[in-house]
Amino acid sequence: MRFSLNEHIRSVHPPPIGEVKGWSEQRSDDTPPFIDLCQAVPDYSPPPDMIAHIREMALDPMTCRYTPDEGLLEVRESVCRRYQRRYFAKMRHEQVCLTCGASAAFWLAILTLCHAGDEVILQLPCYFDHPMALGSLGIKPVYAPFKEKEKGLPNPSVISKLITPRTRAILLVSPSNPSGSVIPPELLRELYFLAQRHRIALIIDETYSDFIEEIPHDLFTLEDWHSTLIQIMSFGKSYALTGYRAGLLAADPELIKQALKIQDTMTVCQPRITQLALQYGLDRLDSWVESNRRMMSLRHDLFVEEFTLPGNRFRLAASGSFFAWVKHPFAGKSGREVAKYLAIEAGILTLPGEVFGPGLGEYLRLAFGNIQEKTIPEAVHRFRQFA
Ligand SMILES: Cc1ncc(COP(=O)(O)O)c(C=O)c1O
Repeated sequence: MRFSLNEHIRSVHPPPIGEVKGWSEQRSDDTPPFIDLCQAVPDYSPPPDMIAHIREMALDPMTCRYTPDEGLLEVRESVCRRYQRRYFAKMRHEQVCLTCGASAAFWLAILTLCHAGDEVILQLPCYFDHPMALGSLGIKPVYAPFKEKEKGLPNPSVISKLITPRTRAILLVSPSNPSGSVIPPELLRELYFLAQRHRIALIIDETYSDFIEEIPHDLFTLEDWHSTLIQIMSFGKSYALTGYRAGLLAADPELIKQALKIQDTMTVCQPRITQLALQYGLDRLDSWVESNRRMMSLRHDLFVEEFTLPGNRFRLAASGSFFAWVKHPFAGKSGREVAKYLAIEAGILTLPGEVFGPGLGEYLRLAFGNIQEKTIPEAVHRFRQFA
């Protein structure tokens, strides 16, 4: 290349899933078949009636066209009705922007809020894409430390000490990727009011919220929730539509108005076919989503039961829907070294802890949403053998 590249982007680490999947090529012939605990995707497909609906919609030439940047009105209204059922939310369609995945919603929120040099507070362990995006933009991630005893839940008094005049937002993920920990509603309320007092945003990424039984929080019932709260949501996991890029940003209409300048220049709109699929799911699939939640919860319980039986030197530090956050027993070895050996020797793909923030190399993330119940005993057996 005869030109230089953006140094901010050069300093960001490459996407970790690709790196881990690359290790699978180094395995020897006698490695057992892979068990993939690396990527957080549901192992099942959308229900057949949704697929039939998508097929029918694809035949309509209108489906090939753009929609308004923020998404079709009727789909955003379906979102409001779903949020009313799920959160008892007071939400209007002007507070909803459909996006290309939660990933694009995150970019819209951050680009609308921050300048290069600003700070965003992240709770460790954090979802790796968040510091990657912040770093690419020259925004400083300020990390609230991980306390294993507290299962990585945020502590308002610790977070309040990290707020400076450059802080633009507190960014949380609940349920957490990678720990699975769910932030209790009362703690979220405390953090909401902390953010409000400091006139900064509270951003909550709730990509996995359909996999918890309880109502995730009551913030959307507050009359002025949008004065402080920005929600990032993905329906990729809820409806098994990860490739359709079904996300949303819920925020103040003024923030959305500004964010649409970015959406218009980046993706224009969430694809119409995705919006039609999403509307189908929002209007008709509550009970399907609930049955998958129960299935994931069974997987979690079975995994925890097997993993915590005596004799396993890997230790469960936290777990919840989709994820287990595990401490490995090899003092002095990085998560990357251990995850690589696990892949090559035991045929188990995991993500090293250090991709979820500085100082977390003693941990590994396992995503068991990806494997069926019948594979769980074998997966756990390989950890025991390996140690
Ligand atoms: C916490 C979190 N946020 C956002 C995303 C990205 O979601 P999407 O595929 O809708 O962009 C993921 C994907 O794994 C995630 O784990």
